[in-house]
Amino acid sequence: MKNRSLVSITDYSKADYLRILDIAEEFEKKSYQNLLNGKVLATLFFEPSTRTRLSFESAINRLGGKVIGFSDANTTSVTKGETLYDTIKVVSNFAELIVMRHPLEGSSRYASEISRVPIINAGDGANQHPTQTLLDLYSIKKTQGTLENLKIFMVGDLKYGRTVHSLLMALSEFGATFYFISPDELKMPTEYKMYLDSCGLKYYELKDLDDSINQADIIYMTRVQKERFSDPIEYERTKNAYVLKRDLMNGVKDTMRVLHPLPRVNEIDTELDDSPYAYYFEQTENGVFVRQAIISLILGLK
Ligand code: CP
Repeated sequence: MKNRSLVSITDYSKADYLRILDIAEEFEKKSYQNLLNGKVLATLFFEPSTRTRLSFESAINRLGGKVIGFSDANTTSVTKGETLYDTIKVVSNFAELIVMRHPLEGSSRYASEISRVPIINAGDGANQHPTQTLLDLYSIKKTQGTLENLKIFMVGDLKYGRTVHSLLMALSEFGATFYFISPDELKMPTEYKMYLDSCGLKYYELKDLDDSINQADIIYMTRVQKERFSDPIEYERTKNAYVLKRDLMNGVKDTMRVLHPLPRVNEIDTELDDSPYAYYFEQTENGVFVRQAIISLILGLK
């Protein structure tokens, strides 16, 4: 992984995922390690973020590094017409590694082709969010004891949800069976279903959150993303399509856990937060350890 950008989850192999999870486990035991020793890393967020940016910055700080960057491109020379090409050319002179979130699909790949230093994709439009996937894998392994042959329910916005796209591709390496639950307007795109077909993996498309969730090992909830809709009426029609409530948990497996990349809007009732099934806040903490592992491996420090 040394010096390799992480743009799509498929840039890395199954062996790479497992190596990252092993190193993340080491960081979970000892999170503060001065491996970066003052090295400068950049976080460039052209789109809003709470978890991804702050967990990367926490990871860099815990490793003894320094962070430069921005959380709002309106404070940069982008407002004067600076291109992404020029921004990346310049920042790659200032930092050892660039973490970038951008609304355009493919922007991260483009940046990786320009940059002198590795790029980590922190989300590019509706395309990919590979570091979220790695922390999701870590959370699934931690709660289920394995990544192999699990039943994964993906619920909500499966069309624009970059987290489910990356996660599906990673879990296809581990023989998962998928259950897609979404409104018609937000179904899993055909290319991802074709990908599962090519892997010989089963998937089911369901309309409702019903008794079938009793089979679930993981319920992966997602938010209907207002910012991806061009038609506000379509957003209003679909935004509350699925709400996970405590009474739906009657009959689920004891070991089942609910994950969500967050932020949530209405799709998980807060009454679920103190149930044994809720794992979405622990999931965010796992993000720090996994991002420490990714940074350390890319910079050749582990
Ligand atoms: N999971 C996630 O990407 O959250 P943020 O948008 O807050 O970074």
